[in-house]
Amino acid sequence: MSKDKDKSRLEQLRNLLHHYNYQYYVLAQSEISDFEYDQLLRELIDLETKNPDLFDPNSPSQRVGSDLNQEFEQEVHSYPMLSLDNTYSKEELADFETRNKKILPEEYEFICELKYDGASISLKYENGQLVRALTRGDGEKGDNVTANVKTIKSIPLKLTGSGFPPDFEIRGEIFIPHDGFEKMNEEKRAAGEPEYANPRNTAAGSLKIQNSSIVASRPLDCFLYYIMGKELPANSHYENMKLAKTWGFKVPNNIKKCSNLDEVIEFIDYWENERHNLPYDIDGIVIKINNLKQQQQLGMTTKSPRWATAFKFKAEQAKTKLLSIDYQVGRTGAITPVANLEPVLLAGTTVKRASLHNYDQINLLDVRVNDFVYVEKGGEIIPKIVGVDKDLRPSDSKAVEYIKDCPECNTELIKIEGEAKHYCPNETGCPPQIKGRIEHFISRKAMNIGAAEATVELLVDKGLINDFGDLYFLTKEDILSLERFAEKSATNLIGSIEKSKEVPFSRVLYAMGIRYVGETVAKTVTSELKSIENIKGTSIEELTEIHEIGERIASSIVEYFKSDINIKIINKLKISGVQLEIDEEEGNIENKLNGQTFVISGTFEKHSRDELKELISKFGGKNTGSISAKTNYLLAGENIGPSKLEKVKKLNIPIISEDDFLRMIK
Ligand code: IVH
Repeated sequence: MSKDKDKSRLEQLRNLLHHYNYQYYVLAQSEISDFEYDQLLRELIDLETKNPDLFDPNSPSQRVGSDLNQEFEQEVHSYPMLSLDNTYSKEELADFETRNKKILPEEYEFICELKYDGASISLKYENGQLVRALTRGDGEKGDNVTANVKTIKSIPLKLTGSGFPPDFEIRGEIFIPHDGFEKMNEEKRAAGEPEYANPRNTAAGSLKIQNSSIVASRPLDCFLYYIMGKELPANSHYENMKLAKTWGFKVPNNIKKCSNLDEVIEFIDYWENERHNLPYDIDGIVIKINNLKQQQQLGMTTKSPRWATAFKFKAEQAKTKLLSIDYQVGRTGAITPVANLEPVLLAGTTVKRASLHNYDQINLLDVRVNDFVYVEKGGEIIPKIVGVDKDLRPSDSKAVEYIKDCPECNTELIKIEGEAKHYCPNETGCPPQIKGRIEHFISRKAMNIGAAEATVELLVDKGLINDFGDLYFLTKEDILSLERFAEKSATNLIGSIEKSKEVPFSRVLYAMGIRYVGETVAKTVTSELKSIENIKGTSIEELTEIHEIGERIASSIVEYFKSDINIKIINKLKISGVQLEIDEEEGNIENKLNGQTFVISGTFEKHSRDELKELISKFGGKNTGSISAKTNYLLAGENIGPSKLEKVKKLNIPIISEDDFLRMIK
């Protein structure tokens, strides 16, 4: 293709992808399938690689972020980032009104908006292009987090429509919706790592991650609510935000124009209840004077504008009786005390249990069985106990005597210095720890062995396995001896265990369930140290030299390999042929089929179609469903459809067999 053709296709692809992004992430509509989107993106990346001189910092390809570490430079805001006056009472809103009336001679309108609970951001656009994103910082200066912000798909990198000022700033809130937050915590739970406390802190923390490709994987979103510039198109906040929507910004719909305080209070009352049905957190309502000239007349103090105020919702609390305390044992042996409560309605759901976190927390709150406690739903998913009504405390009440022994295996608990939790040290004999580790090992993101929790339970209870290494020594007869297993299901389980021997080393390391070694850490460690033997022989100092590995992770890894029991389990994996080193070719893997597009058709002898697809992508190739001029190979098995054959012949596309393919990647 000639340079001109490349250039115009590049432009076309960039515009198309900007458009589909907007449709999907701002309007929540999808016009094309993920697959088609990926194909366009791939084509764009290929063209950009071929034409580095046509680089565009705001190309849709830049949304994936970069693996390179960034430093955040502090920069001065074009306009200071002020905060808002807060009130928790409706009476105080009347003061806001009185003050306004004193200064403003004419009628005015209020705009009521939701107060999004995230991290504020200021975006600068020049000639329709995003040029800078700053965090709030101290209000005067903020961190330049542009690279991270570019990965947020609902933020336009390039504006659409017309009428936007050549130079302006727009402010908004970066947040994580509930479903995305829940998924992030599911991953944390699977890795046995501490969960994120709440979406707000997680959103703010995400903006400061040095590696923007990690930011790209986080479910961040952004609502815009305030625009600033010398030449704004309209003279009211409401109209300007409406226009901003036409330029591609995600401007929320839950905005109301109100002509008096009663209408404002109606809006507040409505959202005080309705907020529990929103898919993200809000912590109040923001009330703004609509007209920009009137805003100017009201002016601002050094801290906040006089033309706006925030009504904050109180965190909802309920009072209920603490009936008893249970102690849960996690797969790492960590003990978590959980309060059983007299069921109580809180923020729309019935609460029966609340986490007490650890012994220190119980002491700090001085909470006792039979106390009436206040429970609150903060950003956290599990409600927490925030206080005790000591007036209602029974006279014979006694301080909680924390358990000394494991509730599951009676082993004496230990407390590691610097850690808040108590631990049961009986790693090999404590049933929830044994089962928990095996369940983690077989989980989808780890070894992906298809066995239910109940199966693990049976296998352990019958003494057929004691650790995950034993899985590889199970026979079909062993499995058939379990209730509910028949020939077919037993064969499947054995097959699934067998297949897990192909799982790459980084996932195996993650599967081993070393404390603080989640998926990302496992990838980093394996790509750096290559084999289990090398990891085993590494010191804390050497480990902490690896980027993103801190003291805590390093000492956890070293501890793990000090244990004879763990070494024995690893030996079982070794004998069985589980991957304990990086595939020799893993480094070259990407190159092998890079840029090659395959269509798979028919049935195969050695591998299933899914396995072949996995191999293609593992080696950097691409799978597509239908044959086109871009197809490089048809990987053909038995019983391939005649129309496909005809098409490849017409397009002169080489047909390869399963063996040919396996030779290609050998
Ligand atoms: S307007 C000068 N509108 O609340 C005022 N702020 O305490 C400009 N916030 O820093 C802000 N939702 O992070 C505005 N609809 C909304 C908001 C909002 C959340 C945050 C924002 C601000 C803080 C003020």
